[in-house]
Amino acid sequence: MTGATTTPVSLATLQQMKTRGEKIACLTCYDSSFTRVLETAGVEVFIIGDSLGMVLKGHESTVPVTVADMIYHAANVARVGQSALRVVDMPFMSYANPDRALGNAARLMGEGGAHMIKLEGGADKAAIVEHLVGHSIPVCGHIGLLPQSVYKLGGYKVQGRDEAGAQALLDDARALEEAGAGLLVVECVLAELATRITAEVSIPTIGIGAGAGCDGQVLVLYDMLGITPGKRPRFVRDFLLDTGSVPAAIEAYVAAVKNSTFPAAEHCF
Ligand code: KIV
Repeated sequence: MTGATTTPVSLATLQQMKTRGEKIACLTCYDSSFTRVLETAGVEVFIIGDSLGMVLKGHESTVPVTVADMIYHAANVARVGQSALRVVDMPFMSYANPDRALGNAARLMGEGGAHMIKLEGGADKAAIVEHLVGHSIPVCGHIGLLPQSVYKLGGYKVQGRDEAGAQALLDDARALEEAGAGLLVVECVLAELATRITAEVSIPTIGIGAGAGCDGQVLVLYDMLGITPGKRPRFVRDFLLDTGSVPAAIEAYVAAVKNSTFPAAEHCF
């Protein structure tokens, strides 16, 4: 089912959708105008992502993004947002230890209007996740390709391709769930592995470049509108191409996620 709703989406809503097998439509969002368009089209979860450093600010990675940047954009979304659950990224180094994470997450919620914060990493971040959840801060994990670690990884590559890597990602997913994470983004992993992760954790998974077996899908808004410069990644579909208007493109995306026609085989690894 697509379409606007003013009923706020909560983590309980997403958990019920996972149980029912109803796909979750998620997109990145960074401003108030798109907030209205996306909510009208029925997008249930917004990630106010640090991808804004690349698509809005023109940086070559997400590394230079600051907590102040995140608060500015999250607050623009929160000012008019009515229904979508707002997940706000903690930028590079803002969660380097539990106390720094707590202070910055509190600002993202208090000043930025976040409903939930997202941080990158697996078992190595479990103690930080536990600390935040213990202070009533809902946390979304992010495993697989970690854009904030791009200089360590040596590029934007598919993760967990071999047996050991796949096992490590499964362990990461379980560790984050045990630490109290309520949602999990899985980025750029083989579709089969993402399906297994989704089956093995009880929290909803949101995939990007991770196949159709996740509980929901997310894309960077500017990628799915075809306006990000450079070569389009394999996992992205340009929804504006066939629809001709931004609202129609977003509606087509929501419909394609809901009926599992996106991602198709050609978007998967
Ligand atoms: O930064 C971002 O926009 C993200 C999503 C694409 C998952 O992390």
